[in-house]
Amino acid sequence: MAKKAAPDIEQREKLYEGKAKIVFATNRPGYIVQYFKDDATAFNALKRGTIVGKGVVNNQMSAALFTLLGKKGVPTHYVATLSEREMLCRRLDIIKIETIVRNVVAGSLQKRTGLAEGTPVTPPIVELYYKSDPLGDPMINDEHVRMMKLATPAELTWLKRAALKVNSVLVPYMKKRGLLLVDFKLEFGRAGRALYLGDEISPDTCRLWDAATATKLDKDRFRQDLGGVEEAYQEVYRRLVDRAQ
Ligand code: TMP
Repeated sequence: MAKKAAPDIEQREKLYEGKAKIVFATNRPGYIVQYFKDDATAFNALKRGTIVGKGVVNNQMSAALFTLLGKKGVPTHYVATLSEREMLCRRLDIIKIETIVRNVVAGSLQKRTGLAEGTPVTPPIVELYYKSDPLGDPMINDEHVRMMKLATPAELTWLKRAALKVNSVLVPYMKKRGLLLVDFKLEFGRAGRALYLGDEISPDTCRLWDAATATKLDKDRFRQDLGGVEEAYQEVYRRLVDRAQ
């Protein structure tokens, strides 16, 4: 179970409530607490629901993967696990770009290209989306990033490289645990002069298929009303958290 770490940390006022998480200030400037909820939304919050136990799975899966990535040289905002649903993080100024890496055709890539779901994407591709709820997170390219000053060219180069590095760490890690990492979304942010991986890495933000059967074990079960949503999250937890150590 999650250990209590950083005992001198005190949680303070709520800074922000998102669709799946609440962010709290702490007594230490530069550090925040992410609280993971069971609330689920899809299609820019048009569809809403609850996935019982999701917050616990997402918090602990994110902690395990951030720890792994940190060891492999990818800086992340993760500092410590405070409880089943709470993670102490470095406070970031989030870059308003959602970076998506794809190894297999699914979701919006399938719609955009007409390629069959399950077609391998070799080598993997990186896509950029403008993180804006009112606009519905539209896809953008490097020139839009420059035009809107969302990131400097050096930051953009760094974050695309970091996204592919994350992919090269996670693909074999998941494969060993019987999961195919189809695609995933990352968010990065600034703290001081450095860049860090932020947000979460969970079945909300990744597509994960059983490697043998291609059964979907992620939020697509909720998005597409496939049933067995809680069971899928628990299965991912068993493979990536319980057996991870
Ligand atoms: P997409 O195929 O719908 O563009 O999704 C690509 C990946 O990004 C998939 O793993 C799910 C994740 N994702 C999010 O984390 N948040 C979102 O709002 C959306 C639409 C997708």
